[in-house]
Amino acid sequence: MIVSGSHSQILSAELATVTGRSLATVEYDRFPDGELKVRVPDPPTERAIVVASTPTSDAHLELLQLQDALREAGVPEIVTVLPYMGYARQDKVFETGDPISARAMARAISTGADRVLTVNPHEPAVTDFFDVPADTVDAAGRLAEPLSDLSDPVFVAPDDGAVGIAETVRDAYGGGATDYFEKTRHSSTEVEIEPRDADVAGRDVVLTDDIVATGSTMAEAVDALDARDAARVLVTCVHPMLARNAVLKLSSAGVEAIYGTDTLERAVSEVSVAPAIAEML
Ligand code: R5P
Repeated sequence: MIVSGSHSQILSAELATVTGRSLATVEYDRFPDGELKVRVPDPPTERAIVVASTPTSDAHLELLQLQDALREAGVPEIVTVLPYMGYARQDKVFETGDPISARAMARAISTGADRVLTVNPHEPAVTDFFDVPADTVDAAGRLAEPLSDLSDPVFVAPDDGAVGIAETVRDAYGGGATDYFEKTRHSSTEVEIEPRDADVAGRDVVLTDDIVATGSTMAEAVDALDARDAARVLVTCVHPMLARNAVLKLSSAGVEAIYGTDTLERAVSEVSVAPAIAEML
């Protein structure tokens, strides 16, 4: 049975369809003081697959409650799927005194799960932070689905960390070149993109990344592509966080379309990661 977090209802329903499993009813509530309370009125008697993206702190608490409710009901096996794992980008000490938030979250989640799956985490090594078996799901290939009729395409990663995603999308599309830019991050909202010798003039460019958060990285990359006379520029990412004014930033930079998956349920979540998760279950 699939048990959904409140941020993953569309994906959970799709996963239920793809796998032929049933979907548990979950009640998401709050006490008058604002504290969260979830309830699974008819808990499964066999394996439960909890599907819960954690883009907010409340979503993390909700997930811990869901796992605990299932344990309390005697569910013998809990597999927790984190389509989008929040706090995963704080995966090391960047400045003295920093927490390793990804590790703190992973340890807490491990207390209520027998196995964990995360979809395209920023660093695959985040799985090492869990105290239970943890694997990554690579859903990047799904991003090729909405792409069609590209002219001499180049799949460009805005930094070298996303080259693998660009290659996966290119392979799934069935042709084209790949390249990447050099990125320096000055703050959570300020990045500098150093174009390499990417040959993009007159070609369609598909920018690919794991996540678009504030859109600063992608907007800088679009500027660099414009300066090099790229034809159409499309943005794809696994996790369309699209915080603050990211959509406006990208649209005014001249992006033709933004495509993401349903790890985060947004208007641009054109493709589902459900088949990729189903393969790993
Ligand atoms: C970092 O290296 C990630 O892959 C993304 O490029 C980054 O998190 C995107 O953040 P933003 O949209 O805020 O620039």
